[in-house]
Amino acid sequence: MNLLIGGRLPGGASGDDEAMVAARREVFDAGLYSRVIDAVAVRIATADVAAVLDAGCGEGSYLAAIAAVGGCAAYGIDISKPAVRLAARRHRTHRYAVASSYRLPFADASFGAVVSVFSPRPFDEMLRVLEPGGMAVVVTPGAAHLTQLKAVLYDAPRAHREPEDLDDSRGLLLETTERVSFTIDLADARMRLRLLEMTPYWWSANPARREVIASTLTTVDVDVIVTTYRTAA
Ligand SMILES: C[S@@+](CC[C@H](N)C(=O)[O-])C[C@H]1O[C@@H](n2cnc3c(N)ncnc32)[C@H](O)[C@@H]1O
Repeated sequence: MNLLIGGRLPGGASGDDEAMVAARREVFDAGLYSRVIDAVAVRIATADVAAVLDAGCGEGSYLAAIAAVGGCAAYGIDISKPAVRLAARRHRTHRYAVASSYRLPFADASFGAVVSVFSPRPFDEMLRVLEPGGMAVVVTPGAAHLTQLKAVLYDAPRAHREPEDLDDSRGLLLETTERVSFTIDLADARMRLRLLEMTPYWWSANPARREVIASTLTTVDVDVIVTTYRTAA
């Protein structure tokens, strides 16, 4: 289902492309991000909700884990057609649509929980579709996220600046902040390039630096911040 007005966003933005989405699926299927996925799923399970929305759901692995642990109805939207196609093909009982997080195609107060993982987080719109007492879960990169990857790509790599909008969440009440940090073993050389390809760093990686990553990047740190919010009951 494509719910974008006119089929695409103003400016031609169309989200992650097919190769990026496929790389992400492969990395998730190999279990390399399971600790992040599980951390999100556990948060939703504790909320005991009937329906959850993943806004910027990508290829659907987070939503699948959430639905499995939380036993809730699962809805995902993304502006990327390849992402939604891949998600819908694997998770047939979940509802997916191509749509924008800035204009969610749902009525007010439709969901007990809304999730945004490394995706846009328009707090006003998330608040609108949440029930009273509903939960929002936002995942953002921490300062040390993918440090070793950036060290190969950039001459002077900078730490991720932690987002400044997480406290300014427009009526969503900050509830918990959890840092999830661990080191991924990239002994499988194929996974080194898949990991690069699933990130926007792929575009700034020239062939020589891609080759260095393919031949030398044996470990990489994942460092993310999982923030939860509640709407007023
Ligand atoms: C870094 S990916 C994260 C995907 C997924 N949440 C995950 O962690 O695997 C960011 C996602 O946000 C989507 N996206 C970007 N802008 C969007 C928007 N305005 N509305 C909905 N999705 C958007 C992209 O297409 C992409 O799938």
